[in-house]
Amino acid sequence: MRQKIVAGNWKMNLDIDSGKELLIQIIDADLNSDCLTIVAPPYIHFHNFKRMLSHTNIALAAQNCHAQESGAYTGEISVKMLKSVGVEYVILGHSERREYFNEDSLAISFKVNTVIKEGLRPIYCCGETLAERKEGEHFETISTQIKQGLFQLNEMELLNCVIAYEPVWAIGTGETASPEQAQEIHAFIRKTIAEEFGEIVANSISILYGGSVKPGNAKELFNCPDIDGGLIGGAALDVTSFTALTNSF
Ligand code: PGA
Repeated sequence: MRQKIVAGNWKMNLDIDSGKELLIQIIDADLNSDCLTIVAPPYIHFHNFKRMLSHTNIALAAQNCHAQESGAYTGEISVKMLKSVGVEYVILGHSERREYFNEDSLAISFKVNTVIKEGLRPIYCCGETLAERKEGEHFETISTQIKQGLFQLNEMELLNCVIAYEPVWAIGTGETASPEQAQEIHAFIRKTIAEEFGEIVANSISILYGGSVKPGNAKELFNCPDIDGGLIGGAALDVTSFTALTNSF
């Protein structure tokens, strides 16, 4: 159901000790209890973090998974394994996965299906490149990514998804979409969903913005009517900025 969310994507950062240290700081921080806080660390942390988070409302997310349930897929991790260490959400289709690991929306849709089947919740990422925006193709790109990645689901399944709009040109670049640009795409995503699944479903889904979100720009972004929070990279690695982000609604 639609809720305010701040999710920290740690990417490939923080070893066992520094990750633990940051999580302790986050647990002790003055997080906004009106918003769901999600932490997405590298896999090595889950076993410790499950125990550390057991008496908190902070949820765990993985940054990826494999589409198959098990088998000979060297180096991969299954959704069942993630579930066994307390993971509730899985980030799928992040632009870094699409760009560096050649994942396309169709391949990602199989992962979405597996995550849903296991009772976990996908955080499905979409976003256009700078070239696509300059060519005025951003609406088409987003529409295709949403349809190919999520439209195989039924209504109830879709309601278990979170969507993140992350313009590729804004990720890790310090450049953020303006609140107007972000709101325009978020409203477009909701409209795209409404056309297929109806207004009630579209209005029940949380759509997060991601791309250089910081305490200095979060309030303006999070106050837009169709933006329900953020998927945060760099600023999630510092407890002060991460806490401030949860308090930016
Ligand atoms: P950023 O990353 O906040 O560092 O731009 C966001 C993301 O990749 O999810």
